[in-house]
Parts: sequence; C-alpha cells; structure tokens
Amino acid sequence: MPDKKFKKNLLCIGAGYVGGPTMAMIAYKCPQYKITVVDVDKDKIAAWQTDQLPIYEPGLLDIVKTARDKNLFFSTNVDKGIKEADIIFISVNTPTKMFGEGAGKSADLQYWEKTARDILRVSESDKIIVERSTLPVKTAIAMERILSTGDKALNFEVISNPEFLAEGTAMKDLEKPDRVLIGSKETESGMKARNELVEIYANWIPRDRLITSNLMSSELSKLVANSFLAQRISSINSISALCEIVDANVTEVANAIGKDSRIGDKFLKASVGFGGSCFKKDILNLVYLCEQFGLYEVAAYWEYIVKMNDYQHTRFVQTITRAMFNTIAGKRIALLGFAFKANTSDTRESAAIYITQKLMAEKAKVVISDPKAIKNARKDLKDYGNDIEYQEDPYKAAKGAHAVAILTEWDLYKDLDYEKIYNDMEKPAFIFDGRNLLDHAKLFDIGYEVYPLGKPPLIHFKEV
Ligand code: NAD
Ligand code: UGA
Repeated sequence: MPDKKFKKNLLCIGAGYVGGPTMAMIAYKCPQYKITVVDVDKDKIAAWQTDQLPIYEPGLLDIVKTARDKNLFFSTNVDKGIKEADIIFISVNTPTKMFGEGAGKSADLQYWEKTARDILRVSESDKIIVERSTLPVKTAIAMERILSTGDKALNFEVISNPEFLAEGTAMKDLEKPDRVLIGSKETESGMKARNELVEIYANWIPRDRLITSNLMSSELSKLVANSFLAQRISSINSISALCEIVDANVTEVANAIGKDSRIGDKFLKASVGFGGSCFKKDILNLVYLCEQFGLYEVAAYWEYIVKMNDYQHTRFVQTITRAMFNTIAGKRIALLGFAFKANTSDTRESAAIYITQKLMAEKAKVVISDPKAIKNARKDLKDYGNDIEYQEDPYKAAKGAHAVAILTEWDLYKDLDYEKIYNDMEKPAFIFDGRNLLDHAKLFDIGYEVYPLGKPPLIHFKEV
C-alpha cells in the first residue's frame, strides 16, 4: 500500500552509479517523497545499507546517511517496489551488445526490456516511467508498446530524463546541474507527466535549467552530448601526436584555442585516452543508429573518435617501448593510476586496461598502483593471475622499476617525493606522464628521462 506519510512513492530500478547517487540526491532535497532503490544484486543493496557504499563518490555517504531510513530505502524486492510506486525511474545498465546483430556497437537492451516486462506483470495502478539509462532513440516508444500489451487497462506514461553527471563529481553535478532534460510525448497526458517530473526537480534546481523537449530529441541529446565531449578529447589527443614531432606543446595549444569563447577551455586535456563506461558505448550506439538509417558517412565520422582513442593507447605504449631502447621485456614498469579518471574507483573502459594489455604483450613486468581502484583492476586483469603485481603504495610500486607511467590524474601523484622514487629506480629512470600532471622540468633536474604527452621529451642522453 502507498505510504500516506509521503506525497508520492518514487522507485528506482538499478542501484548503480546513476541510480544510487541520483535517488539519494532527490531524497535529500525532497523529504516529501518516499524513495526506494531496488536492484537484483543482493550484495550491492546490502552495501547501500552500510557506510561502505558500493561506489566511491565524494560527498555521497553524507547525503545517503542524511536520508537513509527516513525517506530513502534500499531493497531487493523489485516486485513490491513496482507495485507501490507512482513514478518509476529506470537506471539499469545498457552495455554494448556483444552478440548477434549489432554486436560490438548497438546497445544490449535485455536488462531494460526485463524491467518493462516486470512493470507490466506486477503493476496494479497507473504509473509514470522515467528513462534514466542511456538508450537508443525511440526506446521510450518501444517501452510504451510493451507496456500497452496485456489486459490490465492501466496507463503508463514514458518520459526520457537522461543523466549527465560525471563520476567523481556526481554529487556536485546533481546538486547544481547545467541542465536537466525532460522529454515526453506532447500529448495532454505526456505533458502532465512531464510537469510532475519538473515539479520534483524544481525543489532545488532553478526552472530555467529544466529543459523540456520531445521524447526523441531527449534520447538523442544524451548520445550526442557524450559524443561531442569525447570528440574534443580525441581532437586534442590527435594534436598531441603532432605536437611531439614539431616541438609544440599541447597544453599551450589547448590554452590558446580554449581562450576563444566559441571553442571554450573545457575537455581539452590531452591524455592517455578517454575511458569510463559510457563514452565509447554511446558513440558506438550513435554509429549503429546512423548505419541503420543508411547514414554511412555520418557513422564513419563519429566512429573515428573511438579509433583515435585506440590509437592514443597504442601510441603511448609505442613511446614507452621506443624510449626504452625498443625492448621492455622483463623490465619493471610501475603504472600510477588505474581508475579511468581521478576521484573514482571505477575502471570501466579505463585506458589503463588497454595499456596494461599492450605492455604485457611486450612481456613487461607490470606493477599497478591506485589509491581506490586496485580491487577493480584485479578483476579487470584476472586473466593475468600473478603475472601482474598490485601495490597501493606508489613508492613500493616504483621501487626497482625501470619506468613509471602516470595514467590517472590523482592529486596525490603531484606531491610524491620524486627524488626518493628516482633513487630507488633502475637507471636510466624513465617517467611517462600520460596526464601531463607533473612538473617536467623538475623531474628532468632530478635525473629522469621525461616523456610528457604532446610535448617534446626531456632527455639527458641524446643519440648522436
Ligand atoms: P551500473 O552497472 O552501475 O548499475 C546498473 C544496475 O542495474 C546494476 O546494479 C544492475 O544489477 C541493475 N539491474 C540490471 N537489471 C536489473 C533489473 N532487471 N532489475 C533490477 N536491477 C537491475 O550502471 P550505471 O553506471 O549506473 O549506468 C546505468 C545507465 O545510466 C546506463 O545506461 C548508463 O549509460 C547511464 N549513465 C551512466 C553514467 C555514469 O556516470 N555511470 C552517467 C550517465 C548515464
Ligand atoms: C561522462 C560525461 O562527462 C557525463 O556528462 C556523462 O553523464 C557520463 O559520461 C555518462 O554518460 O556516463 P564520465 O565518464 O564520468 O562522464 O567522466 P568525464 O569527466 O567525462 O571523463 C571521461 C574520460 O575522459 C575520462 O577518462 C577522463 O580522464 C577523460 N578526459 C576528460 C580527458 O582525457 N581529457 C579531458 O579534457 C577530459
């Protein structure tokens, strides 16, 4: 039975990186709503009920603790949650499909469709269904078709409300988003459902940041936003390759172009390559969509962003191998950072995974260090067994190493005692800064052979 203490019952299906933080924020800002987050993963739900949350996100625990067991609840009882809900948010995973038609590009919608069928099977009242997962265009329409089958005569209004948070800054992004996008059908019932959602977000977000659109624009905007962001990174990474050859400095180039207000200065940091669970998946989703409609040139244009990212991984390992006299077999290489970016334990699609695989193929002795992501790194690299060493302490990781490579821009790596590290390394001691995080001139003075990204290397020993 709906709890009369609360204005409405909100349910979220999927207690992952999106479901957990976003519902915690709604619960915190809207005590008048009862919020239940359900998941089929029992361990995850158990963790949400403790102070050892299943994901690391700065500020998340405080917000969860404020609302938990007051108006925020976690449960594995999906059916009960559906039955009691007025509004259902769906944030299940939508990974790239790895089998059958569209394998390697299209979205795997099996988890998504299962929730649609669960909702249809269990519901006893009308509901608003909110698409939070990132989905191919027209999925909302497909959802509505599934929900309109059967003989229950219930009304389900499907809304698209994609999430734009970035990991590591999720709580900040949720509290002060650039915009919240709400897409609906432009029918009377569609507009009513849209307004219900607007009313929830208006509890803490200024109205001019609540953007509304039709369903398809909303679904497409999410894919396009991620593709544009990734495009900027691949663009600057492509220029980093040129900078290294022509003695230009990619940071200076990024700064110069970023000052043009039409270009803007964000997302212009050259790196070992973008990672994360979504950029590659969402671009490939867009590519697949274009191919389906016969837009092959458009598809190829967007697909090149992913190819350029792969090239950046390859290029980084080539730089390491070539600098170290064309052989790294048996050499100890300490990778500082495994998370796909700083301030997260998430390693999904991290450039570090691909770089490690390539280094292992060259028979290097890889040591992985990261303040938060060692557990996930072990899972990602389980096929290598004991051939890879894991050391949370960066000093232990670098001890006896021929080279150190910075793969994640953790602040702590800026302040390490690089003199001590140098003294404990094999000589010549190489440092490859895949994030341009460190003071390269200082490292060179200590004695390192320094290889920044998109800048000429600083080398003591020059070939004649
Ligand atoms: P996630 O893997 O962290 O979480 C998804 C959860 O859904 C898992 O815990 C899984 O057990 C659960 N689940 C799957 N099927 C279920 C079912 N039938 N019933 C109940 N629970 C079920 O994924 P995520 O990172 O939170 O991403 C979710 C969606 O949001 C994806 O579509 C993603 O593209 C999108 N997105 C992610 C981010 C991000 O930063 N991670 C940001 C914006 C959008
Ligand atoms: C990204 C988007 O920024 C979010 O808006 C979106 O909601 C989310 O994807 C999603 O749909 O999952 P996220 O992947 O968490 O968020 O992290 P970003 O900060 O975008 O970084 C992605 C990758 O790009 C990281 O590997 C990061 O190191 C890299 N990056 C970022 C660069 O290499 N250079 C930059 O200038 C910026």
